[in-house]
Amino acid sequence: MRILIINGPNLDILGKREPKIYGTTTLSDIEKRLKKKFPKVKLEFYQSNSEGPIIDALHTALDGSVNGVVLNPGAFTHYSYAIRDAAAAVKVPVIEVHLSNVDAREEFRRVSVTAPVCKGVIAGFGVRGYELAVELIINQD
Ligand code: DQA
Repeated sequence: MRILIINGPNLDILGKREPKIYGTTTLSDIEKRLKKKFPKVKLEFYQSNSEGPIIDALHTALDGSVNGVVLNPGAFTHYSYAIRDAAAAVKVPVIEVHLSNVDAREEFRRVSVTAPVCKGVIAGFGVRGYELAVELIINQD
């Protein structure tokens, strides 16, 4: 079982970034927590502040060796058609995750251009959202 966990812009500064919204947990804490919770799963973490490397990471899910993708595109969620197209090309489930409840925030965050090509969206549950997404990929029907 191999799962990609792809994080977009500004998620590298989690812990320091708007802690009232995103909490004090760092991306490396999330990685450690997931690896501890799912020791038998090969979890591969990618993070980029740019669109291209996120698209390239999604392309790696095309080779047939990946069981699913957990994708938090950060602000790209709201306007990146290129990331949407890359996610649409992936045949295994892509689950969109947001730490914050994007629907309870600014108007522009209520639009996700990536969500329609994903299997589903988990938002507002912080780090638990990543865990739930991995569980859903492991227990696919
Ligand atoms: C986010 C929500 C986005 O609107 C924002 O731009 C982010 C983080 C989240 O995880 O809550 O960078 O994806």
